[in-house]
Amino acid sequence: MKRYPFCKLGEVNAPYREAIAEAMMRVLDSGRYVGGGDVSAFEDAVARLTGAKHAVGTGNGLDALRLIFRALIQTGRLKPGDGVAVPANTYIASMLAVSDNGLRIVAVDADAHTLLIDPAALEKAAGDETVKCLLTVHLYGRTAWNREIAETVKRHDLIVVEDAAQSIGSESDGTPGVNGGTVSGHLGHAAAFSFYPTKNLGALGDGGMVTTDDEELAKTVRALANYGSDRRYHNIYKGLNSRLDPLQAAILLAKLPGLETENEHRRRLATIYDRHITNPLVKKPSQPAYERESVWHQYVILCPHRDALREHLAKRGVETDIHYPEAPHQQPCYRDEIGGELRVTERIAREAVSLPITRCTTEEDAREIAEIIDELRVER
Ligand SMILES: Cc1ncc(COP(=O)(O)O)c(C=O)c1O
Repeated sequence: MKRYPFCKLGEVNAPYREAIAEAMMRVLDSGRYVGGGDVSAFEDAVARLTGAKHAVGTGNGLDALRLIFRALIQTGRLKPGDGVAVPANTYIASMLAVSDNGLRIVAVDADAHTLLIDPAALEKAAGDETVKCLLTVHLYGRTAWNREIAETVKRHDLIVVEDAAQSIGSESDGTPGVNGGTVSGHLGHAAAFSFYPTKNLGALGDGGMVTTDDEELAKTVRALANYGSDRRYHNIYKGLNSRLDPLQAAILLAKLPGLETENEHRRRLATIYDRHITNPLVKKPSQPAYERESVWHQYVILCPHRDALREHLAKRGVETDIHYPEAPHQQPCYRDEIGGELRVTERIAREAVSLPITRCTTEEDAREIAEIIDELRVER
């Protein structure tokens, strides 16, 4: 039987094998194993890609987010207890970064078509005077920024942090960000990226990045990430140690030239799924009007008969995954802390199925997977 893997990272990285080996040897021979040329070259490359003025490497994406919120507090723009609007449908890291800094999570329900933050629900949440910030999450690779969200941000004078962990290379629908940018990572006051191995641009371990146009914020993040020191053995903050590993930076530099091809491949697969899946038991994500709005980190369909669908697909060799089986507010650690009407998010947690959408899947595979999905019938 033919197999359709969800994602095999060895296969994803195979085309970069030589470039990665060369990059690793370069770091080995450099004798510099913390910081150095590859880290700053990769920071510059991400700044160029997003259009942001500053980019600061971090140990991972969660730390990138945590550092942004710490820097916003350190520079007096937010204070502990302030409300941060966060989409309820997100990976838990978005929430952890907020609560870790003593900020208050205000969970906002999702839109059932985009699966991103619901702009109307955000407007309602922002009516609360204690909400000072929006953490917008470009979940599944789709940019969560449009005219309605931008208007809410302006009307309520919100600080905007982007969780761009899943969206490297995605763009807005043309709506400019708070500083006029249109690429994810340059839409808010600061953004966090993750280079976790499964990301569209993935390292061979952990890695993250903060991007911002704000020099003070960039400097503060850089110091906080390096024990709170602005120069050697001089600590202005009680910081942490979360720096981008030069080996990972060198590997990411080697893979970066392939990112556009990777994202384009995912867009083609998403278009095939969108055209070919016609089973009424399945709800597909809406296709963005402008194709570059999504880099399709995941292609997530909703199906009320999720177990039956996954079983049917598994029997035909199609691996699937769930992003995410429990929303953050349903997790034991947040159950008593995050409340509200989050019905769409809860539906997504019950019904979401992620289809294969990496380099391991060909266009022909995607057409066949769509056909297999269309064969699903359930007893009424
Ligand atoms: C939406 C989102 N935010 C934050 C993170 C945290 O990134 P990392 O795993 O690099 O800490 C991830 C990923 O894993 C993510 O998917």
